[in-house]
Amino acid sequence: MRVGYVQTEPVFGEPEANLARACALMRSDRADLWVLPELFASGYLFRSEGEVRELAEPVPEGATTSGLVEAAEELGAHIVAGLPELAEGKVYNAAVLVGPRGLLALYRKVHLFFEEKRWFAPGDTPFPVVEVGDARVGVMICFDHFFPESARTLALSGAEILAHPSNLVMPGIAQRTMVVRAMENRVYAVTANRVGTEARGGGTIRFTGLSQIVAPSGEHLARSPETDEDVQVVELDPELARDKSINPWNDLLADRRPEFYATVG
Ligand code: ACM
Repeated sequence: MRVGYVQTEPVFGEPEANLARACALMRSDRADLWVLPELFASGYLFRSEGEVRELAEPVPEGATTSGLVEAAEELGAHIVAGLPELAEGKVYNAAVLVGPRGLLALYRKVHLFFEEKRWFAPGDTPFPVVEVGDARVGVMICFDHFFPESARTLALSGAEILAHPSNLVMPGIAQRTMVVRAMENRVYAVTANRVGTEARGGGTIRFTGLSQIVAPSGEHLARSPETDEDVQVVELDPELARDKSINPWNDLLADRRPEFYATVG
C-alpha cells in the first residue's frame, strides 16, 4: 500500500487556491492514501468569530469536501484532510476521510490547542477508524498527539495507520511524540504538517514543517524539511502493524491492565 502526505503552505482565507495547490502536489506522485495538513484550505490564524464562520463549511456538502472527493476520484486514492466544519450552528476543527465515492469519516478535534478554544467547539465524535484497501486507517488531529489516549484509542479500535493532519507550531515535539505513539501502539503514523507564517491582526504564527511517516518500529520512513512544501510517498505493509507482540511473553495491547488504570486518592 502506498501512503503519502503533502506538506503545503496555505494562504489564509483562500480555500479554493489552497485546495488546488494540494491537488497539484498530490498529482506529482501516486498513493492509495494521502494525508493533508489540518485546516489545509482555510488557513489557521483566525481573528474573529465572523472569520471562522465565513470559512467553515458543512460536511460533506461544502466546496472543500466536494473538491477532495473529486480529487480522490481523479487520483484513485483516499484522502484525509483538515477543515473548519459548520454544523448546527457550531464550528469544529474537523478532519474528513474521503474516497472516490464520497465521505467515509468525519472527526472533530477532541483536544483543542491554545486559541482554537476561542473559535471551535470541542470535538464530540469518536476517533474514527476506516478500512482503506487492506489497511485500517485512524484519524487524529495535531495536538491530539500530546494525549497518548488518542493514538491508543485508535489502536484499540484496530487502526494500523494513524493519519495525523497537523498545523504544528512547536518544532520537534510532535515529531518525537509520534515516534513514541507509533512504537507503543505498533502502528504507522503519518503526520502531515504545513509550513509558512501567518501574520494577521497583531498575531504571528510560524508553522514548523518536518512532516513525517514513522513505522511501527519507530523508524522514520519519510521526513520533510522545516520550511518548504514537500510531497512524500512510501510503501507500507499494514500487516506489520497487526502483530503487537514484542517478544514471546509480551503483547502491547493484550498485556494492558485497565483494571489498574483508574486514579486513586
Ligand atoms: C495544533 O494542534 N494545531 C498545535
